[in-house]
Amino acid sequence: MRFLLIGDVFGEMGRNILKQELPRIKKEYGINFVIVNGENIAHGKGIIERYYKELLNLNVDVVTLGNHAFSNKNVYEFIDDARRLIRPINFPTQVPGSDYVTVNYNGIKITVFQVLGKVFMDDDYLNPFHTAENLLETLNSDIYICDIHAEATSEKIAFARHFDGKINIVVGTHTHVQTNDAHIMPNGTMYMSDLGMTGALDGIIGVEEDPIIHQYLTGEHKRHIPKSTGRKQFNALMVEINEQTHKVTKFDIIHMVQ
Ligand SMILES: [Fe+2]
Ligand SMILES: [Fe+2]
Repeated sequence: MRFLLIGDVFGEMGRNILKQELPRIKKEYGINFVIVNGENIAHGKGIIERYYKELLNLNVDVVTLGNHAFSNKNVYEFIDDARRLIRPINFPTQVPGSDYVTVNYNGIKITVFQVLGKVFMDDDYLNPFHTAENLLETLNSDIYICDIHAEATSEKIAFARHFDGKINIVVGTHTHVQTNDAHIMPNGTMYMSDLGMTGALDGIIGVEEDPIIHQYLTGEHKRHIPKSTGRKQFNALMVEINEQTHKVTKFDIIHMVQ
């Protein structure tokens, strides 16, 4: 069976290119299961119920979030009832929402969960390694997929090597820049440091460039504005897993500019 993993979908440009390209890509690659990171889907920060439902209407199977999980307060209105939505498992305090989603696909139990990294992130997050180990001990699925939402490639690679052979797919999100390091690790885990962003190409990781450049030139913080003009990019990873052995057999990196 074939999985399509899509990184941070950013704002209106991200939603538009996703709506336009996802049905075609699913068909072209014969995709059976889609995972989308939706932490930036609402104006670049957080998620709202309307966009979560739009993703379900596009037949997305699981939506992950990230450090921006609760940036839009509308999420509190629906997260506890959203059966295909997960937020990271290692926030330092009790938060609403699910630690994981398990989907039964043709008798195969597929569990998706997400951890936040700590390096160059909010250091209050709980240790992602220990939190993931504790979660895995409570589960009994055939295929595990983890979205590691983190800044540092070393932390992401270390996480994937630690769980090599235990988690079938470990893919990174959060940096909004697609990495060129997709590979199958020695014990069989599919790994890629970052899936990349789906949204504007010409801004700076999703937002208008001028306020960011101004900030670097002067040190003065300016409000970030989602980029709404110029070219769009679509980034994803296709992973094929054998339905009997649950081993990764093939993968393909998708990077499109329009
Ligand atoms: Fe993001
Ligand atoms: Fe993030």
